[in-house]
Amino acid sequence: MAGTGTRLDGKVALVTGAASGVGRATAKIFAAEGAKVVGTDIDDVNGAALVDEIKADGGEAIYVHANVRNYDDLVAAVAAAEETFGRLDICIANAGTVGGNAVGRPMEDLSEEQWVTIVDINLHGVYRTFRAAIPALRRAGGGAFSSTASIAGLTGVAGQSAYSASKGGIIALVRSLAYQLAGDHIRVNCVCPGGINTNLLAETDLMAILMAQAADGPPMGAPVEAAPGADPVALMNQAADPEDIANAHLYLVSDEARMVNGQSLVVDAGSMVANMWLVVPRDQ
Ligand SMILES: NC(=O)c1ccc[n+]([C@@H]2O[C@H](COP(=O)([O-])OP(=O)(O)OC[C@H]3O[C@@H](n4cnc5c(N)ncnc54)[C@H](O)[C@@H]3O)[C@@H](O)[C@H]2O)c1
Repeated sequence: MAGTGTRLDGKVALVTGAASGVGRATAKIFAAEGAKVVGTDIDDVNGAALVDEIKADGGEAIYVHANVRNYDDLVAAVAAAEETFGRLDICIANAGTVGGNAVGRPMEDLSEEQWVTIVDINLHGVYRTFRAAIPALRRAGGGAFSSTASIAGLTGVAGQSAYSASKGGIIALVRSLAYQLAGDHIRVNCVCPGGINTNLLAETDLMAILMAQAADGPPMGAPVEAAPGADPVALMNQAADPEDIANAHLYLVSDEARMVNGQSLVVDAGSMVANMWLVVPRDQ
């Protein structure tokens, strides 16, 4: 796959949550576009496998264990990027969680520990990642940040209070940081996906829970019977592939997006503007 594009030639990119799903697809697409990739995660087995795949395809990558709950891990990952590849230009704060059995529960039924854990991984994890990387991007003379937020940070989703709050926090952080770092030639954006076919959906049975809550038909991301191809209406009812989100990150960190800063790019086939989440009853 390496060598299929040149959009990130000469760049070094760090990706958190790179062992699976969106992070994995982003690392692979970035490598195929010429970037040297530093994949980080807490899943060391699949992180190492990712690096093997990128190298087998002719790309360059290393894996560094980094829990986004631990600032020192992220500082060490940034240092590894500079030691191995000489610089860091791009950083994707992607790692996140829906919080296991927190999904679908009313806010008052979550323990404080559950709430804090979700917000700590999803929002504070992005803060720690960006904070650790800012000095390196300054040393590189500028660069680009992106993060994987969610449409849950833009619209109401019953049973996902902590998750929604954490993702809304990323969207606000991105706006403020874009303003703060513009003078350093660093752009800051995020992607807001709808449903994506990854472990995160499968492990928590999130879609089944949301469908069970739906009063008036399936919510965005529900499986459809026939392969929808590129039919825009059918796609509204279908979860995205991880590569759909990875390509949005690719655009946001590439020079093609030089005029895009502080933005939240929704990638959901239009399901949010069609109000497909709002079928969830308010008392759930
Ligand atoms: N799947 C969806 O429907 C969906 C929708 C919108 C947004 N998102 C967001 O996309 C991002 C990626 O999720 P995904 O769907 O690819 O899920 P995934 O479960 O396939 O991948 C998440 C990765 O993050 C890693 N991770 C979890 N906690 C971590 C921690 N503390 N430190 C470092 N790594 C950690 C996991 O090990 C895993 O490799 C998340 O931020 C998620 O909230 C997902």
